[in-house]
Amino acid sequence: EEIEKGGYDHFMLKEIYEQPRAILDTYRGRLLADQKLIKMAGIDEHLDKFVNANRIIIVACGTSWHAGLVAEYIFEDLARIPVEVEYASEFRYRNPVITDKDVLIAISQSGETADTLAAIKLAKENGAFVFGVCNVVGSSIARETNAGAYTHAGPEIGVASTKAFTTQITVLSLIALKLAQEKGSLTDEQFTSFLTELEYIPTKVEVALQSNDAIEKIAEVYKDSPNCLYLGRGYNFPVALEGALKLKEISYIHAEGYPAAEMKHGPIALIDESMPVIVIATNKGHYEKVVSNIQEIKSRKGKIIAVVTEGDVQVKELADHVIEVPETLEALTPLLTTIPLQLLSYHIALMRGCNVDQPRNLAKSVTVE
Ligand code: G6P
Repeated sequence: EEIEKGGYDHFMLKEIYEQPRAILDTYRGRLLADQKLIKMAGIDEHLDKFVNANRIIIVACGTSWHAGLVAEYIFEDLARIPVEVEYASEFRYRNPVITDKDVLIAISQSGETADTLAAIKLAKENGAFVFGVCNVVGSSIARETNAGAYTHAGPEIGVASTKAFTTQITVLSLIALKLAQEKGSLTDEQFTSFLTELEYIPTKVEVALQSNDAIEKIAEVYKDSPNCLYLGRGYNFPVALEGALKLKEISYIHAEGYPAAEMKHGPIALIDESMPVIVIATNKGHYEKVVSNIQEIKSRKGKIIAVVTEGDVQVKELADHVIEVPETLEALTPLLTTIPLQLLSYHIALMRGCNVDQPRNLAKSVTVE
């Protein structure tokens, strides 16, 4: 096992650090920037199904569901296809309306999650085209779907999912870009800049990982907090959910992820000087609005840990701690902003003496209902 950990103390840390490589492996051979081409067999062979779809339904559980939420933003923004994201466990039992004009995308690291598998069967019975995004080759979901794309993240051993999440977002971005090109919903220039920027992501993730020591110091300050709030907007709303899930899973601290603007409809009541609030405030999208959310937290004496874009000035003046990530296109920011949140959970869990790789009561793959 020590050999498998490759010199890291835990699988989770190893897998966090593998992300630059895993993301590269995910788009290698698929993203051909010089030819302005995305080649993915599972999509190429069924392009008509996607292009003519009335909508895309995404089903998943846990972290994979969060990747699905990011994909909703990407598909709608880039390819202008309506998307619904569902917990597989809710979808399968709520008598959903499914037609043969729907495409269902099931996202699953293991490819074995019982609820996701059941949702696939239901969609197939109702005539939908079913596409799988899995990590484990030859898994049940990979076999049950009409077509699919592997994430090629390599084995993920830590129960808390890390590299599976970022590689799922990478695959889903490639699909969205492919469809956008086919539908003409992006200009040539926009399309090219996406391809170029995707190729920079592994290097930018490396840069984001360099904040590890600074994050460890932040973890030291907040490791005994009983609660934690995570806020983000737009593309980074699902990242806030994922950040909170990561902390809950491995450190057993109660954490909630919220869309920053919804804070005023409830969570703001919880904010006092003992409440750490992690805010994703990159310079794209809703930056100014997030800044005003940060001001609201500050005036209630909450402790602010902000994930910002390199060179940020405004948030730095307000926050108690800032963690920088490199600049990128808004749609790709989740691939960078997720990294510090993974590291923060890791260090806090470690300091609390928790079993990082095998948290209590959780399973890597949930094959029962
Ligand atoms: C379990 C794991 C999570 C994972 C979820 C979905 O709860 O502990 O890390 O996100 O299942 O798993 P899947 O393999 O379908 O992505």
